[in-house]
Amino acid sequence: MAAALPRLPFADGAFALTLSGYLLFAYPELFGPEHQLAALAELVRVTAADGEVRVQPLHDGRGRRCGHLDRLRHALGERRIASEVRRVPRGDGRTRRVLVLRSAERRPRRPLPPSAM
Ligand SMILES: C[S@@+](CC[C@H](N)C(=O)[O-])C[C@H]1O[C@@H](n2cnc3c(N)ncnc32)[C@H](O)[C@@H]1O
Repeated sequence: MAAALPRLPFADGAFALTLSGYLLFAYPELFGPEHQLAALAELVRVTAADGEVRVQPLHDGRGRRCGHLDRLRHALGERRIASEVRRVPRGDGRTRRVLVLRSAERRPRRPLPPSAM
């Protein structure tokens, strides 16, 4: 199905686990901070209250980390979206940073597999 963030044609809570890879932070020239915030909130909207959103990488194509990640997380918190930066094994002895989001309205009922991204 064709769609483009920050608007997705899915119902609220449609997915238990929502993954976004190599998009929101990878192309800062396409996704500025406001666009990223709207897109992240939309990903949370389509995710079940007891599910989670995982977004990676948190750097652009030249390896530069997102400099406004803390501000984004603060803005998400104001929208009742909880966030954490989780370190996930890459399989080569190193780790990758993944932004994990969930609705702050409800706590997760069951753990989701950490290997999904
Ligand atoms: C570098 S690819 C990453 C593909 C895949 N997620 C992965 O990890 O291999 C970026 C993808 O984002 C898609 N894309 C571009 N703008 C988008 C938008 N506004 N909303 C959703 N996807 C978009 C592109 O069509 C492309 O498939």
